[in-house]
Amino acid sequence: MSIGDRQRRAPQGVEPVDHFEINGGNRLRGAVTIGGAKNAALPIMAASILCEGETILHNVPDLQDVRQLLVLLNRLGVKSEREAGGALHLRVEDEMNCHAPYELVSKMRASICVLGPLLAKRRRAQVSMPGGCAIGDRPVNLHIQGMEALGADSELVNGDILLKAKKLQGAEMFLGGPFGSTVTGTANVLMAATLAEGRTVIESAACEPEVSDLAEFLNACGAQITGHGTPRVTVDGVASLSGTEHTVIPDRIEAGTFMIAAAITNGELELTNCRLEHLLAVVDRLRRVGVNIERGEKGVTVASSRRLEPVDVTTQAYPGFPTDLQAQTMALLCLADGNSVITEKIFPDRFLHVAELNRMGAHLRKEGPTVIVQGVKKLVGAPVMASDLRASAALVLAGLIAKGTTRVHRVYHIDRGYERIEEKLASVGAEVRRVSE
Ligand code: EPU
Repeated sequence: MSIGDRQRRAPQGVEPVDHFEINGGNRLRGAVTIGGAKNAALPIMAASILCEGETILHNVPDLQDVRQLLVLLNRLGVKSEREAGGALHLRVEDEMNCHAPYELVSKMRASICVLGPLLAKRRRAQVSMPGGCAIGDRPVNLHIQGMEALGADSELVNGDILLKAKKLQGAEMFLGGPFGSTVTGTANVLMAATLAEGRTVIESAACEPEVSDLAEFLNACGAQITGHGTPRVTVDGVASLSGTEHTVIPDRIEAGTFMIAAAITNGELELTNCRLEHLLAVVDRLRRVGVNIERGEKGVTVASSRRLEPVDVTTQAYPGFPTDLQAQTMALLCLADGNSVITEKIFPDRFLHVAELNRMGAHLRKEGPTVIVQGVKKLVGAPVMASDLRASAALVLAGLIAKGTTRVHRVYHIDRGYERIEEKLASVGAEVRRVSE
């Protein structure tokens, strides 16, 4: 039974409680195909709310988060159909319901991406305020600030953000916060501004490739967006958008995770459907660690065959080093020949993996938003607990090289964002299997 089948068959409200059992030590060798980017697919799916007619999306990964957003979109009147293993078709059939309730939003924060499209198309959006999560405090003040700048009235009703507007008016706005730009906040304002009257300028917009992919999708639907991929994005409002066909970009975080899998096992992987230009900060750090990364004939080859050098890593907004690869990189640097310093500048509390890695024999010391990594000669298998998506990936990577058996519990976190990761790892030589508890 595939993960998808298992989760589709799990009783409602009951999380599957699978764990991964990993016997470490195998060098990974072979080819891995990288899937579509979760964080590009989710806002693009939400953007279908804006469109007349059908939206057809290719390269949408089959993930728990994607299935969860489809549940919400269906509630909001969007009909969806997935070709077997292929394209996702979305079409708005009913515009009455504008409410994304707590029971759905609390399962997935990215549900906030419906805020901008609902407000722009239906002039009303009621979305449960997402709470904090395992990676720390996650405010949405900038999303609301952006919508207010476009002319929306906002209030908090029983824990829901309620936005209303008779019409939206383009505006100039600064969307930076204490930790820099906001990815889903930029996506929300971008989507809302497409149907506003006149010109919107977003200063300090997020430059992430996932935001650019959304802008490309919206432009193909008839929007007029320029400057995406830079901190200053301009949107000239249009009267309507029509559905289009679009292929979602490859997932740079999945690609980075497999690069680290090759490096940590002293193996060699060829990654296909991988856009190296989206990973230059990661490539820079990994090369300094001593990993060989080259564009090959079919994809990107990643190989490592010697002792790893320590490096310092600071997470930053794109094009800086992604916070979504911080935990996985920490797992790698645990085995470097010396001390590394990892500083988290996006989510300063995103360190729940530190204690778990220490249980596997790592020497990690956290001081505020920084972790000092003292390299060790080996990690040892242990039962460990996944706390969030990327932390889980770090524990799996550590398990691949740890001596003995590692059991990573609560892998439903990893299923949210990695498609069949255990099957992909096993196909290149890892000894990893999913066990249902
Ligand atoms: N922030 C504010 N106010 C806001 C919004 C954000 O102060 O209104 C702060 C955040 O607290 C954080 C920083 O700004 O310190 C950046 O947060 P951002 O809004 O960019 O994060 P996000 O949009 O909620 C997306 C990804 C995350 C990824 C971050 C950073 C999606 C669905 N999620 O979250 O992905 O870590 O950008 O790159 O795109 C993951 O995939 O595992 C994941 C957590």
